Amino acid sequence: MTSRPIGIFDSGVGGLTVARAVIEALPNEAIVYYGDTARTPYGPKPLDEIHRYSLEIIDYLLEQDVKMIVVGCNSASSALNTLGRPKLDVPMLTVIEPPAQVAARLTRNKRVGIIGTEATITSRQYEEALLRQRVPVQVFSKACPRFVELAERGETTLRSTLETAEGYLGELKEADVDTLILGCTHYPLLQGTIGYVMGPDVLLVSSAEETAKDVYTVLVANGLLREDGSPPEHNFVTSGSEDDFNRLAPKFLGPVVSSVKRHPL
Ligand code: DGL
Repeated sequence: MTSRPIGIFDSGVGGLTVARAVIEALPNEAIVYYGDTARTPYGPKPLDEIHRYSLEIIDYLLEQDVKMIVVGCNSASSALNTLGRPKLDVPMLTVIEPPAQVAARLTRNKRVGIIGTEATITSRQYEEALLRQRVPVQVFSKACPRFVELAERGETTLRSTLETAEGYLGELKEADVDTLILGCTHYPLLQGTIGYVMGPDVLLVSSAEETAKDVYTVLVANGLLREDGSPPEHNFVTSGSEDDFNRLAPKFLGPVVSSVKRHPL
């Protein structure tokens, strides 16, 4: 059981930020990643459609014999939390609860901002998760749909990206939030711009990193940590073009060493 992989899925390549955080936090664990690039993006779609796709992917991952499922996509997590999570024999974690817990714990002025896709923001699942923390916080949310295409095009540090960010984030700044949840897989790539616009006093909480920490907790609680010391094998599956996936993946999963030059001194 423990040597089985962790299944992670997303609407496309964005969930690779979650996979990356899991690989960094748990380097001994194997991963099967499913990116639904043929049906991406999920963010502008109705929740019932996203829910249907998510259930199909969960079935696929179970067929791959995973020991745990991580819903890496915020829009899919929102749909599953709104319309119902399937009953499974393996643990399942969505990307919403972990950052909500951290934000509720760390906000000083009890004013928390949330940014995400239209599906995530309209579902109000982050608000619900913050309410469950029993800390009296005021929540301010904003859909930032253009951030997804900017991150995928690699336009993370352009002047025009900064202007887009200023347009989206102005009202959250005015609301004086001191903690901002990056509630979308793509936003860690825009952390520099988002952090700059919000200013140094605002804490950015990444749903990818906080979820990765909780994956460890779930594996320990269920006695599922991989004990085998051999290097784990990761598998990546896409519903769309393999070439497109390969082209975009390094942006989200992290750069690989493409060449090394010897230069002794
Ligand atoms: N993965 C999606 C999310 O985290 C963003 C991309 C999309 O809209 O499909 O909400």
